[in-house]
Amino acid sequence: MAAPDRSVLPAHEDKTAVVRAMFDDIAPRYEMVNRVMTFGLDASWRRRAVRSLGLPAGSRILDLACGTGDLSRTATDAGLLPIGADLSFGMLDASHGTGPLVQADASALPLADGSVDGLICGYALRNFTDLESALREMGRVVRPGGRLSLLEVAAPKNRVMLAGYKVWFEHAVPIIGGLLSDRKAYRYLPASTAYLPEPDALRRSLGAAGFSGVNHRMLSGGLSQLVTATRRSSG
Ligand SMILES: C[S@@+](CC[C@H](N)C(=O)[O-])C[C@H]1O[C@@H](n2cnc3c(N)ncnc32)[C@H](O)[C@@H]1O
Repeated sequence: MAAPDRSVLPAHEDKTAVVRAMFDDIAPRYEMVNRVMTFGLDASWRRRAVRSLGLPAGSRILDLACGTGDLSRTATDAGLLPIGADLSFGMLDASHGTGPLVQADASALPLADGSVDGLICGYALRNFTDLESALREMGRVVRPGGRLSLLEVAAPKNRVMLAGYKVWFEHAVPIIGGLLSDRKAYRYLPASTAYLPEPDALRRSLGAAGFSGVNHRMLSGGLSQLVTATRRSSG
């Protein structure tokens, strides 16, 4: 994990309040900026994440940190039944997802043990104040044998792609985000990758949270990463 840039990233004790206020502010234009930032590629990453759950139609899933409901809509198109949970009332208010919505912190989910067949979480891990407790909550609410699919940003390994990625995400995105929405938020978003654990550390944390068969893969040459796992029957 890289050292956090304190000019953009909040201290641990302030993080939940800062992140919540930031997403409240950018909610109305969040999806439009996403499409511009990713050249529309995020739609295919979302479909891949939903497919990777491998759950049959009619399965109940939690879309954790659902934001404006992009992943929930993709899941609904695949015949799944999503419940959306998010910290930000602004994002929930701007949601045009499908299924019930609940305001909740990922570290304390208002769902019963083993109550969902699967859990999907898009581009949110790095925003959580306490990632370990959020992973434990995922392990608690997903039923034994249920599935997990986590989508996150990544940085390409290929040098040429990495150079292009840096120019785009570290320089262009804050400017474009500032013009279309809020510059501070779009400086935070690329910088917040500093909060993301390395794949091996995430694998260990998921194991401790009750998941097995953890699979990590890069998408679109490393612009995004997808982690899938299955809830163990015990522990
Ligand atoms: C980058 S957005 C992703 C939204 C959506 N999942 C998507 O794929 O477009 C991150 C989301 O995480 C939510 N979030 C941040 N911290 C959270 C927490 N502790 N508990 C629940 N949601 C949280 C934010 O409110 C925001 O909606």
